[in-house]
Amino acid sequence: MKFATLLIYMFAASVATAADTNSIYRGGPSSPSATTRQGWIDLDKNGRKDIYEDPSQPVAKRVDDLLKRMTLAEKIGQLWQSAMAKDSDRKLAEKLKAGGVSSFLDGSALIETPVMRNKLQHIAVEQSRLGIPLIFGHDSIHGFRTVFPIPLAQACAWEPELFERTQTISARESAAAGIDWVFSPMVDLARDPRWGRIAEGFGEDPWLGALDAAASVRGFQGTNCADTNRVVACLKHYVGYGAAEGGRDYNTTEISEFTLRNYYLPQFKAGVDAGAWTLMSAFNELSGMPASANRHTLTEILRNEWKFPGFVVSDWESVSELIDHGVAADNAEAARLGLTAGVDMEMVSTTYADTLKQQVEQGTVPKKVLDEAVRRVLTVKFEKGLFDHPFTDGNAFKTALLQPDAIDLAREAAAKSCVLLKNENSVLPLSPHAKKLALIGPFAEDAEEMAGPWSSRAHTNDIVSLADAVRAQLPFDFQLVVARGCSIIDSGKIRRHLESFSPIKEIPTGTNEIARAVEAAQSADEIILTLGEPRDWSGEDASRSDLGLPGRQMELFNAIVATGKPVIVVLFNGRPLAIPQIQKKAAAILEAWFPGIQGGNGVAEVLFGVADPAGRLTTTFPRSVGQVPMYYNHLNTGRPGIGEYKGNYADGPNDPLYPFGFGLAYTTFGFGKVQLAAPTMKLGGTITASLQLTNTGVRAGTEVAQLYLRDVAASGGPRPVRELKGFQKILLQPGESRDVSFTISGNELGYYDVKGNWLVEPGKFQLWIAKDSASGEPVEFELKK
Ligand code: BGC
Repeated sequence: MKFATLLIYMFAASVATAADTNSIYRGGPSSPSATTRQGWIDLDKNGRKDIYEDPSQPVAKRVDDLLKRMTLAEKIGQLWQSAMAKDSDRKLAEKLKAGGVSSFLDGSALIETPVMRNKLQHIAVEQSRLGIPLIFGHDSIHGFRTVFPIPLAQACAWEPELFERTQTISARESAAAGIDWVFSPMVDLARDPRWGRIAEGFGEDPWLGALDAAASVRGFQGTNCADTNRVVACLKHYVGYGAAEGGRDYNTTEISEFTLRNYYLPQFKAGVDAGAWTLMSAFNELSGMPASANRHTLTEILRNEWKFPGFVVSDWESVSELIDHGVAADNAEAARLGLTAGVDMEMVSTTYADTLKQQVEQGTVPKKVLDEAVRRVLTVKFEKGLFDHPFTDGNAFKTALLQPDAIDLAREAAAKSCVLLKNENSVLPLSPHAKKLALIGPFAEDAEEMAGPWSSRAHTNDIVSLADAVRAQLPFDFQLVVARGCSIIDSGKIRRHLESFSPIKEIPTGTNEIARAVEAAQSADEIILTLGEPRDWSGEDASRSDLGLPGRQMELFNAIVATGKPVIVVLFNGRPLAIPQIQKKAAAILEAWFPGIQGGNGVAEVLFGVADPAGRLTTTFPRSVGQVPMYYNHLNTGRPGIGEYKGNYADGPNDPLYPFGFGLAYTTFGFGKVQLAAPTMKLGGTITASLQLTNTGVRAGTEVAQLYLRDVAASGGPRPVRELKGFQKILLQPGESRDVSFTISGNELGYYDVKGNWLVEPGKFQLWIAKDSASGEPVEFELKK
């Protein structure tokens, strides 16, 4: 979608400018801060409000009343989301007046002000027959103007409330700019780091991901999405998108019902249970039917089983793409398949708009199905309060963006997202006694890369680079030397377009200043080397077939290591990287991901020991690309372990570089022996497991104690070798001990069989309380009838 998005920005900019002098954009409230519909509700015709216009009526009644008044064309209009790129402004206005557009994608955020949105909204509510308001959507993925760390990074904080807090800010800023609805959170489980969109999700664990999904929904929607500083959330991409074959974006997925229910669906279910009002149907083909025409997932599971009351929007043109997938012969068939499967609103492509009228009139698409889809869309518009407050306060955005609490949170989140992967001889935190620090590598001075993918509203000037932050935090008698060494990639293109409307800039590649960087390293007492991958290699349509460091970065690394001094590597990337040489030779590795606009400050705080490195991986780091997909919660084989005939790789180890849950602190922790309150648990009852956790080092530090379970023999299908079912993040002073205990119920022991039945079966279970998914010794208990 990327290039198309830019076109939209450019187009919309011209509309916005033209609109100011163009008479088709007339009307509007007298005050720019008014948000309510004023005298133009058709009171004048019948002397009272119609039911659907009356805020005191229940939503269902208002929807029924409105539906009854709508023509077929108006109904179909409610099922189309425009990207604004395809019409001229005048044609667009005519379409709005005819009730032919339900929603805009990105239109509201064009210049970070609601001006354009309000103009379009005025046409819809004042000049169309029924005055149905538009709903404006936007991809606020990890912030709006205040860009937070990428979601994968935030997930490593093991603190779902962090998502609630960051998405609350994202909602506030987005809403002020005129956005009602965000296409977020992305709750796709991902196990393949080649897939660029792994950056947008929470990692490989469905249980932790479900908590993050629910927290994100709460952050966006609050307790009432109609509040002016809240937005409607959208769980995407339903479903299976993260399992793309070969990690290549948009690729086919083959997921059994068993795997779908136990791994890929739980995060969506958690988001639906948290009250998300919309879902987005995915691009991928899913086990025999594209996700955007998949009645089983969209209707049987989502509506019939989960009772989802909101609407489903397709992904960008994913309905017309049913033709490319080879399941629809033409637009009419694509529309029929999409709508009857359960896709209510079509994003950008126009198969519904172009063919549904005839299909409903001919009876090939049941009117009832159409009405249901319209009902769902209208329900969400009513719930969002758009009928009663269709406009955005034109003044609010001036003060809403980049508020001090947002900046503080961005800094906190950046620090909390960092995962310390190695720390030989405690080279970190940096010593206050060192005199000279060399900050080397292509990310040292680079602000823009910090923003990561999906950050079109970030402004370069808002971003703090690591070099800026280190300069600001250095004690006065400390000297800093900065040397780039090389560019991020050696040849090819890195595209950048951070601020809306700024043209895509290509940054220079092929820089070789390694000799100068070596000199800088030789003269310093401490060396920080920043390495990683370009931010536009993460996100949509940004898959990789290699998971190493691109360009000359390994050459730079080896040259700096050859100085014989300990090298502290800081990584900026959107996916797990396969970096066994770095693991071997670096003295320390801090995974900083793409940390957002306060990334420099957050990362510097961790390097200087002001903040504690408390992040833990939520995604496995492989040793080589050949090992992927790789995830901790896999099933056993019939020949588990290592050795002959165990399924080992002939040319390398089977285990990962860093397992799920891994992360170090600046102190060490002792995990005591796990104690069970009883050797058995009764079906319907609970069991408590506990241990003593001790800070065995000399600094305060935070540990994440992780509870894993395994059902040893399951009749409905084998269970993973371990599954995360609990965690506690605990700050301990040096020498301090704390009892950590978990109470386990049937919720943690159950799973879905292939038919979707939830089973909690008597039998033997193993349990670990450990520092990561590869540590600890299991204890056993029995679940009894
Ligand atoms: C992406 C979605 C996004 C949509 C709208 C699509 O290309 O897959 O994640 O929400 O565009 O921008």
